Amino acid sequence: MVVHEQDPFNAEPPLAAMAGEPLTPVDAFYSRNHGPIQVLDPQTWCLRVGGLVDRPLTLTLAGLRAAGRARTLAATLQCAGNRRAGLIAVRDIPGEDPWRDGATSTARWTGVRLADVLAAAGLRGEARHIGFEAPDVSQLASPPQPYGASIPAGKALRPEVLLAWEMNGAPLPAVHGGPVRLVVPGYIGARSVKWVRRITALAAPSPNYFQATAYRLLPPHADPAAAGPGDGISLGPIALNCAILSPADGDSVPPGPAVMRGYALAGEDREVARVDVSADGGRSWQQADLGGQPGRYAWQLWRAAVSIPAGGTAEIVARAWDDTGALQPESARSLWNPKGYANNSWPRARLRVQPRQFSRIDRPEGSPG
Ligand code: MTE
Repeated sequence: MVVHEQDPFNAEPPLAAMAGEPLTPVDAFYSRNHGPIQVLDPQTWCLRVGGLVDRPLTLTLAGLRAAGRARTLAATLQCAGNRRAGLIAVRDIPGEDPWRDGATSTARWTGVRLADVLAAAGLRGEARHIGFEAPDVSQLASPPQPYGASIPAGKALRPEVLLAWEMNGAPLPAVHGGPVRLVVPGYIGARSVKWVRRITALAAPSPNYFQATAYRLLPPHADPAAAGPGDGISLGPIALNCAILSPADGDSVPPGPAVMRGYALAGEDREVARVDVSADGGRSWQQADLGGQPGRYAWQLWRAAVSIPAGGTAEIVARAWDDTGALQPESARSLWNPKGYANNSWPRARLRVQPRQFSRIDRPEGSPG
């Protein structure tokens, strides 16, 4: 793993290790934390459900398992800071980790639908948002507070939103939120609250720092240190995006045929319809082959056979289209924001092209041996 910070622990897998893998092995799944990793005893863990409900609940792990049929689905989590390095290249973003394209990973999650738990608690009609709270107290919040988030009630009631206790067929490990985490496919990873211990049905979005103040898109001139609750655009559904994983930016490759690999992700209610790849910096394009989407809420893997031109460097560019005909924005410059969120500009891999190796047969006649 490429470790950005030890405390709190923040790490992403090397890009090459992700290429062509529909599911991310648990030990290669990116890890994003704002406070200490919680190691909780599944025997004593419990979940409180309250707020605008008719029947407040306290569920043990066994009680949660009994609250609905267990469902398994493959879903991709993507951090809002994924590909921040591309924004930092435009203009520095002090105090934020330079994530590459690896703050995006896919697993098969098993749990009950959040909707089943909310139904058991008798969710009231006036509830508009569902809030979540975890025990990890973040010193990065102002004031320091336990991590929390909320999602609109309409999203919370959808079948893909799970309270999960298994990841890739094994009990959810502590680093990824075990014994139980929320999984909100299609939304920024920040809403998939780990170690969830309290669910509150609310009339308005959660006042928690990570909902009200952080994970908001501020205008380029704003001072993030001065931003308060409600400033900027609250991030929820993720935007159409794609990444080049192999060969990756900065790699050294021989000239000639090469297979490029990457992922594309359409976000909420959309499908990836096409990925284009250019081996000449965007002058000409070819269509990549799509394949290996492990599920409706997961990324789409792509591959493209390209020809790397001889010369000092080659610039590979990719761009994804969704089924509404929308295309990713071309430039990171136009997306720059003071916290470095939501970079979904066309990814570019600048490759160093190795000098051509001539064999004896290739060598031009009369050239020195
Ligand atoms: N939940 C808690 N309790 N604490 C956190 O710091 N980080 C969030 C989310 N849930 C976080 C959390 C963010 S920003 C992301 S991107 C995902 O968890 C990352 O999940 P992972 O570490 O399993 O990859």
